[in-house]
Amino acid sequence: MLRIALFLSACALALPAAVKKEPFGRTPDGQAVEIYTLSNPAGLTARIMTYGATVVSLKTLDQFDVVLGFDSLQGYLQEQPYMGAIVGRYGNRIAKGQFQLNGKPYRLAVNNGPNALHGGLRGFDKRVWKAEAKADAVAFTYSSAAGEEGYPGKLDVTVTYTLTPANELRIEYQAVASEDTVANLTNHAYFNLSGEPTILDHVLRIDADRFTPVDAGLIPTGELRDVTGTPFDFRKPTAVGARIDAQDQQIQFGGGYDHNWVLNGAAGTLRKVIEAYSPRSGRVLTISTTEPGVQFYTGNFLDGKLTGKGNRKYVRRAAFCFETQHFPDSPNKPNFPSTVVKKGVPLRSTTVWQVTKR
Ligand code: BGC
Repeated sequence: MLRIALFLSACALALPAAVKKEPFGRTPDGQAVEIYTLSNPAGLTARIMTYGATVVSLKTLDQFDVVLGFDSLQGYLQEQPYMGAIVGRYGNRIAKGQFQLNGKPYRLAVNNGPNALHGGLRGFDKRVWKAEAKADAVAFTYSSAAGEEGYPGKLDVTVTYTLTPANELRIEYQAVASEDTVANLTNHAYFNLSGEPTILDHVLRIDADRFTPVDAGLIPTGELRDVTGTPFDFRKPTAVGARIDAQDQQIQFGGGYDHNWVLNGAAGTLRKVIEAYSPRSGRVLTISTTEPGVQFYTGNFLDGKLTGKGNRKYVRRAAFCFETQHFPDSPNKPNFPSTVVKKGVPLRSTTVWQVTKR
């Protein structure tokens, strides 16, 4: 019996994931939206739709959905904070929506006080992407026109989601520009590993010695500050809520965590840098990335007004986001790793989420 079970699970590990495509509704301007379900033989499933190349659900082996979102397309079309979506052309803020490239000034669409946030008024999260299913993956493509939201050059973007036998959702980003431009691509999933109202008891480790302090508008000052002795030190596993209300000026600015950590190790190589664990459920989320930073955001602006999946109200700190990416406002910070995408030189980036249970 045991031998048969071992044999079957070995077979399951060797088999690729399956992919299914279904309609998921239409946008107000009549564009058809499809949803793809990837499932691996072990039982992990990811549902990803063409609107925003959005991760609609990520169900663990015990059928628990670890991401926030909505039951239907309608929920995603309302004003909501990028749940599960790909954000771009530039994830996070560019101060005053302005920057210079090759000596030329550019003005972007401004949508967050005086600043540009997550690609502007209609970023990549609000576009219908094309999709192509592979054996164990779906490749989503979007062609962002030159001048869209103020950005120079056309940018052809491909985001490929692969479900692996190791219970990972692997996200590979590629983008090619027709002219020099700037780009910063990430996924804005909101995770809650237990189904409790907030993630304050989740225990987190971030492998980062430094973070980028911000001003009152959440724009980095340019400093790379040591985390030692601050509420930003997650090098040893610590509950998210342990210091979130500390009388720390930085915490006050974000109303909690809403900052970029400078990840240790060489950017460009895939390294395991984040581990989040729910003591209540035993579920573990491990994140590896090639990116130099992560915006760790604790859902401080959720206020209970949004009703999500299964009629659940999304209250303040209901979930956390790990937006693996380059640092905010890099186009205006010469000391930050560059976000310039040169004409014809592809941007490549990989992030892997693994969900397991202890
Ligand atoms: C930003 C937050 C913002 C959230 C939702 C995060 O990446 O840093 O300030 O509220 O996204 O838009």
